[in-house]
Amino acid sequence: MSLFRLCEWLANTSGSIALHESRYVFLVVLTVHVLTLAVFAGTAVMIDLRLLGVAMMRVPASEVIGRLLPWSGAGLLVMMTSGALLFYAAPLARYENVFFRMKMAALALALLNVWLFQRTVYRRVGEWDADAVPPGAVRVAGGLSLLLWAFIITTGRMMAYQDYWFN
Ligand code: HEM
Repeated sequence: MSLFRLCEWLANTSGSIALHESRYVFLVVLTVHVLTLAVFAGTAVMIDLRLLGVAMMRVPASEVIGRLLPWSGAGLLVMMTSGALLFYAAPLARYENVFFRMKMAALALALLNVWLFQRTVYRRVGEWDADAVPPGAVRVAGGLSLLLWAFIITTGRMMAYQDYWFN
């Protein structure tokens, strides 16, 4: 079954139609998606700025990550769940939205970057934990993360402008 056929099937399910036609539920889900951004992006950005060696430089990196990661992790979970519901409300429109596709590709790269960071340089955090400016590989991970989340937020906002830009 092609991705298009799958989205077509999803769009005809009663749940998708109910969410799409709901007076308030869709708005509540969208509001949760936008408000959770404050917690998710706010804490993720502060972690990345510490990894870049430009913020909280006198605080050990592991302490910053230890205190903020639970918040950004919980925020990411809420973003993914509310985002999946927003997708489910109009699967075909999202599938055909170029900004949505760019956002999903960037999201996959951002999650890969986090996974690689935790599997490689963060395992040796004891070697650079107190450094005000961490080693190059750590700063690259932090900088890439910052760029990818900024791109994801921008393409998320641009989704509403697909017709304006391309039709
Ligand atoms: C951390 C990850 C995510 C971030 C930072 C993010 C960010 C955003 C932002 C800033 C908007 C624009 C909201 C507005 O101004 O109206 C948005 C909209 C949207 N997001 Fe996400 N998002 C994330 C994950 C997801 C996921 C995983 C999905 C789907 C699987 C998704 C689906 C959507 C949809 C469908 C909209 C458009 C809603 C509408 O206007 O009708 N998002 N997102």
